[in-house]
Amino acid sequence: MSRARWVVGNWKMNGSFAANASLLAEVVGLPRDGANVGVCVPFVYLAQARQILADSRVALGAQDVSAQTAPGAFTGEISASMLADAGVAQVIVGHSERRQYHGETDALVAAKAAAALAAGLVPIVCVGETLAERDAGQAFEVVGRQVGAVVAALGESVSQVLLAYEPVWAIGTGRTASPEQAQEVHASIRAALGAAGATVPILYGGSVKAANASSIFSMPDVDGGLIGGASLVAADFAAIVAAL
Ligand code: PGA
Repeated sequence: MSRARWVVGNWKMNGSFAANASLLAEVVGLPRDGANVGVCVPFVYLAQARQILADSRVALGAQDVSAQTAPGAFTGEISASMLADAGVAQVIVGHSERRQYHGETDALVAAKAAAALAAGLVPIVCVGETLAERDAGQAFEVVGRQVGAVVAALGESVSQVLLAYEPVWAIGTGRTASPEQAQEVHASIRAALGAAGATVPILYGGSVKAANASSIFSMPDVDGGLIGGASLVAADFAAIVAAL
């Protein structure tokens, strides 16, 4: 079975109502045959993005979700059912910035993925090693552990997620993994997914730009990209979608 191909923008903590309106006006028309497009926007802009993207094929996404599934006293948290209520289709979980700055563990990331799935959302599960881990020869081990936690928590439902391999040393640094480096880790992730590996899209993320997108996307186990900085510039994001 062929795998879906995706380019998903991760705006991170960027945007304003005015800037979003002009960016989304360009993003609306980007999906094309063979290239699915999503944008993961800050919570406060979900309603705006939902309205602008309403009649488009662009998937609306959020950047994080609570692992708590029942409503209650969790100040500041946003549940998966709230996101579904807000028209969200997909949500990033386990981004390295969440793991690094908010102490998110493999177990919490897996719980967030489960909460997302239970509410009918597609979790975009991010994994990736730090530079120190790569230099110590531990890239495959670290990524294997991160993927393994999600597989253990979700069981067969892991077939419903999107995976994103984002080497921490390549995020926002201008330093991209080579197509070969991406491919070998993607292949190991696909193997770790077991039977689901045949259908789960695995996106690459980390300094993807118009100039390097084609060579990365041409690798057999790379099914698209999770795009940070370049997703904030309409022309750059469009060129990356075109590369897919
Ligand atoms: P970048 O970010 O494209 O700015 O490197 C990617 C990401 O963190 O999702």
